[in-house]
Amino acid sequence: MKTIKSELSEHIVAAVVKLYGDDYCDLDPLIQPTTNSEFGDYQANLAMSLAKKLEQKPREIAHALLEELDMPSICDKIEIAGPGFINLYLKNTFVNQRLETLANSPEFGVTREFSPETIVIDYSAPNIAKEMHVGHLRSTVIGDAAARIFTKLGHKVIRQNHMGDWGTQFGMLIEFLVDGGWTEQDSQDSLADIEQRYRDSKLKFDSDPEFNQRARQRVVALQSGDDYTLKLWNYLVRESTQHFMEIYQRLGVLLTETDNCPESFYNPMLAGTVQELADKSMLETSDGAEVIFLDGFKDRDERPLPMIVRKSDGGYLYSTTDLAAVRYRCADLGANRIIYITDARQAQHFAMLFAAVRKAGWASTEVRLDHMPFGSVLGADRKPFKTREGGTVRLIDLLDEAEKRAEVVLQLKNPELPVSERKELAKTISLAALKYADLSNDRIKDYVFDWDRMLALDGNTAPYLQNAYVRILSIFRKGEIDRGSVRSAKFELSHPAEKALALKLFQYSAAIYAVVDRLEPHRLCTYLYELAALFHAFYEACPILKEETPESIRKSRLALSDLCARILKDGLDILGIETVERM
Ligand code: ARG
Repeated sequence: MKTIKSELSEHIVAAVVKLYGDDYCDLDPLIQPTTNSEFGDYQANLAMSLAKKLEQKPREIAHALLEELDMPSICDKIEIAGPGFINLYLKNTFVNQRLETLANSPEFGVTREFSPETIVIDYSAPNIAKEMHVGHLRSTVIGDAAARIFTKLGHKVIRQNHMGDWGTQFGMLIEFLVDGGWTEQDSQDSLADIEQRYRDSKLKFDSDPEFNQRARQRVVALQSGDDYTLKLWNYLVRESTQHFMEIYQRLGVLLTETDNCPESFYNPMLAGTVQELADKSMLETSDGAEVIFLDGFKDRDERPLPMIVRKSDGGYLYSTTDLAAVRYRCADLGANRIIYITDARQAQHFAMLFAAVRKAGWASTEVRLDHMPFGSVLGADRKPFKTREGGTVRLIDLLDEAEKRAEVVLQLKNPELPVSERKELAKTISLAALKYADLSNDRIKDYVFDWDRMLALDGNTAPYLQNAYVRILSIFRKGEIDRGSVRSAKFELSHPAEKALALKLFQYSAAIYAVVDRLEPHRLCTYLYELAALFHAFYEACPILKEETPESIRKSRLALSDLCARILKDGLDILGIETVERM
């Protein structure tokens, strides 16, 4: 489906070529939808950029173009404004036609990629023996949206949950469990209990040299595959994974057990990975450790910053695992692109990782590597979000509280709702609110966690969008009209509020591409919010079911509403957010 922008562009470029010659056939006429309808529906800003090349005044160029432009079926008015802006006013008949095309295109104008890529998305990645906390919400929710959007565009998405299940900390924890006389029965422990033991073991590790020594030996036992040690480790992994899976299910994200590819998966590859680095002469020894030095990476004192791949005691690190993972993902999974979604504090780790795997040739220049960092979640005091007691906020508690709060909001909004329905709705709405609060903020920035704001029925929030959707559905319910029956209706715009809504609907595909381009889900949120606001304005201004509305106009308005609902739902789906039928 050709976009309006490209249709306008073709006409304008044709006029430029006629006036100034073939050299200009690839010119970008700089067409944008206007933000203020006083300046038309679209604006072309090419006259300013042409002025330099042609050594003419922009207004003169704009005038010449106006003479040459021939698109009577598209625009009913073209005006020149300011220094040489060309304001284009679309004809209602043209907009009607385009609405019809949009309403009948299955993906609302979003085209699937002609040459789909294999995209590995590395996200969520919680750590074994620790409960998921609010930070993992960000990675999980942003990653989920990324996975959905790339799938929608036709790419092959491989989700990878790179859980932290390996490392010296497990020696410490397992030794602690052994000391406490761990038996099979302890398998009943909750993850919260395990996390408590983890903290206790850390204290002991730091204060008791004898325990410290045994913990280190336990790491060796784990790495060499000692049966009993592995049994305890497996138990820790099992308990933790179960907890993570429960949370994913509750969150309604795509991640399942089959996406798990934890650090331990790469364990058998680490020695080979380091050996290959040695073969490529990339390793140096520094204080007994094997390290890589990469151009451009310096520490605070301007000294070359090493990437350590093997410690002096022979142990491997987070970085080593990530090196092996890139190699595996490119060679075995066939990745054309790898996207990592973690907080911004890991930016340097990934910058070094990317430089190293390029140098090693594990990721060719054809493979795109992206770190998609995000900011922190802050409390009202603009400090890292903590519980009242100052502890980390457990994700599970957050989900519970969101549900309770959503119930209160619903009770105020619609006291008539039966309790069971309210409880069900509260589940969907609370999740939507949490996810949307996260996604609607520019991901790179920190954001302040604010219950009242995320659950508000007004503003750029999930409940506001869900409410717009519900309102559309209720029009059809009230009029006892089947939504399918209006899909073939003729559009017949008669009010500026309808046109404003229509123009926004046309921009859906552009909003999707904007997200993909820079991996910024908040752009889709902003789009959906503006769309919902324009729907509300249309709804206020244009009676639909009222007696005095002529039949053909009513049909057209119903079709417009239906299309708006479909796009709202599609957009929210991409963000991993469910719509509700009533609220
Ligand atoms: N487990 C890590 C953490 O909680 C995130 C892992 C991200 N992925 C990766 N391949 N390094 O910080």
